[in-house]
Amino acid sequence: MTSIKPILLSLAMAGFVASCGKPDTKTPETKSSTTETVKTETAARKITKDDKFTYSNYDKVQVTHLDLNLDVNFDAKVLDGIATIDFKRIDPSADTLVLDTKGLLIRSVQLFNGDEAEVDSSYTLSDADPTMGAKLTIPLNDGTDSIAISYRTSPEAEGLQWLSPEQTAGKEKPFLFSQAQAINARTMAPVQDTPAVRHTYSATLRVPDGLTPLMSASQGEKDENGEYHFNMPQPIPSYLIAIAVGDVKFKAINDHIGVYAEDYILDAAAEEFSETPQMEVANERLYGPYLWDRYDLIVLPPSFPYGGMENPRLSFLTPTLVAGDKSLTNVVAHELAHSWSGNLVTNSSWRDAWLNEGFTSYVENRVMEELYGKDRAVMEQALDMQGLKRAISEAKRPELTHLKMPEDMKHPDEAFTLVSYIKGANFLFFLEDRFGREVFDPALKAWFDDHAFQSVTTEDFINYMHARLDPIDPDAVTREEINAWVYGPGLPETARQPKSDAFAKVEAATQAWFEGGNIEILQSDATAWSTHEWLHFLNGLPEQLSLEQLNALDTAFSLTGNPNAEIAFAWYMQAIKHDYEPAFAPLENFLMTVGRGKFIYRLYGALQNNDKADWAARVYGNARPGYHPIAQRRIDAILEG
Ligand code: BES
Ligand code: ZN
Repeated sequence: MTSIKPILLSLAMAGFVASCGKPDTKTPETKSSTTETVKTETAARKITKDDKFTYSNYDKVQVTHLDLNLDVNFDAKVLDGIATIDFKRIDPSADTLVLDTKGLLIRSVQLFNGDEAEVDSSYTLSDADPTMGAKLTIPLNDGTDSIAISYRTSPEAEGLQWLSPEQTAGKEKPFLFSQAQAINARTMAPVQDTPAVRHTYSATLRVPDGLTPLMSASQGEKDENGEYHFNMPQPIPSYLIAIAVGDVKFKAINDHIGVYAEDYILDAAAEEFSETPQMEVANERLYGPYLWDRYDLIVLPPSFPYGGMENPRLSFLTPTLVAGDKSLTNVVAHELAHSWSGNLVTNSSWRDAWLNEGFTSYVENRVMEELYGKDRAVMEQALDMQGLKRAISEAKRPELTHLKMPEDMKHPDEAFTLVSYIKGANFLFFLEDRFGREVFDPALKAWFDDHAFQSVTTEDFINYMHARLDPIDPDAVTREEINAWVYGPGLPETARQPKSDAFAKVEAATQAWFEGGNIEILQSDATAWSTHEWLHFLNGLPEQLSLEQLNALDTAFSLTGNPNAEIAFAWYMQAIKHDYEPAFAPLENFLMTVGRGKFIYRLYGALQNNDKADWAARVYGNARPGYHPIAQRRIDAILEG
C-alpha cells in the first residue's frame, strides 16, 4: 500500500497555527439583564465564502453578538421586538452588513457607534426567495459597530410551531417551540444564517402568565418586571438558537442534568433518560470535558419533527423516545454527542453536514457500547447499515451518496440523509479499524480540542488526519480508499460489516417460522426479543407474506398499535407494503398523533407508492394542520411527487 501524502498540508497547517482560545466555562452565570459574554479569540483563519445558503457577506463582516428583546405573542403567533447585533469587520473597508431574513417584518434599523445612536439606516429588503428568504442589506458608516432592528416574525415562520392548548397534553396552555437547523434561524430573527459564523447571544423574553420560557442558553429566572433573561456566553452558529415556551416542569437527574416536560410525561422521561449522566461520563472519557455548563433535555409535544435536536445546554426531544424500557436512548446519546461534534466543532457549510452528523453517529455508537456493551452497539450498527443501503439505493442521484455533498444542492435537507449519518459514521469506523482505537481515539479527541468553537470543512479533517496519522502508521490507509469514502458514491467495499449474533438468531427463527409455518416456533424466541431484535425481524420480513401470516404475527405479538413507536412504524411499513387492512385505522391514528419526520415521511411515501394515494391524501388533509411547518413542506412534496 502506498502512503498518502497530505493533499493540502501546508494550507491546512497555515490554518491551524492561530489556535482558538477557549471560553472560561467556570465564569459564574449572571441571571441579571447584564450581558456577560465570555471572550473568545477567533482564530485568524482565511475565510472563503463556501456556504451558498446564506445571503450574508460573512467574508467581510461577522456578527459577534445577538441580543433579542422579544414579546412571545401567542394571540398573533409572532415573536415581536428588537434584535441588537454587534459585529466586527473582517474586511476593514466593508461598508454594508448583509443579513438573512425570512418572513420577517422589519420596522426600522438603527445604527450605533459605541453607545452613540446614529441616524436611522436606509436599509433595503430584497424580494423573498422561497428557500433563502429575503436579503437585508444595511449600509454602515465608518464607526458603526452595532445595529438595532425592530422586527416581527411571521405566523407562518417555518422555524416556529405555535400549538394551541388543545394540541398539548395538558390542554390548558399553548406551546411554542423553534427548530432553527438548518436555515430557519432567519425566520426567528435577522442573522447571518450560516454555520460558518459563530456568535454569542442573550435574550429577554416576555411570555404569558403560567408559561415557562426556555432557550439554548443559561435558563433565565423571572425578574421583578416579569421578564426572563437568558445568556449563551459560548459562541454558537445561528442554527443552535432555540426557544421553547410551554407549561413544562423540571425534574433533576443530577446536579447539572435534568428534564423539562409537560406533567403527563415528566416522571417517565426522567426515568427513561436516567442514564444521561453515564453517557456524559463516557463522552468525556473519550473526547474531553463537556464545555457547555448544564445539559438539560426537554420533551416536546409529539409534532416535534425530529427525534432530537442538539440545541446547546437543552436538547429538544420527541416524546416517542419514552418507550418505558430505555430502548431508544441512543437518540439522547446522539444529541449529547453533538456537544463535541457539531456544537463545538461545526461544519462550515451544509455540504459538510457529515462532519456534524456522521461524527455524532459515530460517537453515539461508541458511547452506547461503553454503557450497554458491544452486542447492543453492533445491533445498532447493523440496523443503521440496513437503512444506509436502502437510502443509497433510493438516492435521486449518485452525488447525493458522497460524504462531501454536491455544490448544487437545492436545500440543505438534501445533506441530512443516512449518507451523512451512517456512511459518515462508517468512514470513522473504517479509520478506527485501520489505525486501532489506541491511535484513532486520541486523534479524534485532538481534532475536537484543536478546533473547538471553530467551523471546519471536510478538507480540514482529511488534512488534519493525514498530518497526524501518516507519521504514526503510513500504510494504514491509501489515498484511494479515503477518496472513495469522501468523494465517491455508494458504500465503499472497505466498510465494516456489523455481525450481530442476536440478529443471526432472529433470522434463524424467522426462517424456521416461515418454513414450518407455525407461529409457536417464533413465539418461544420472540418473547425475549429486545426492541432492536424486533426491528431487525420486522425490517427483514420476506417480500411475500400472506394475510394469514400477517394476522398470525399481529395476533401473537400485538404489533398493530404497539406502544413502542419504532416497532409500530416498522410494522406499519410492512402493513402498507402487504396491504394488511386491520392496521390501517391504527395507522391513521399514528399519523394523526405523531409528527416525527423519520416515521411520517416514509409512511406517506410508502402509501403513495403502494396505491394508497387517496387514503394518504385524506389522512394528511386531517393531520396537516397539526404537523410542524417543516413536516408540512416535506409531505406536500412527497404527495405531490
Ligand atoms: N441535528 C439533527 C436533527 C436535524 C437534522 C435538524 C437536520 C434539522 C435538520 C439531530 O441531531 C438528529 O440527527 N436527530 C436524529 C436522531 C439521531 C439518533 C439519528 C433524529 O431526529 O432522528
Ligand atoms: Zn444529529
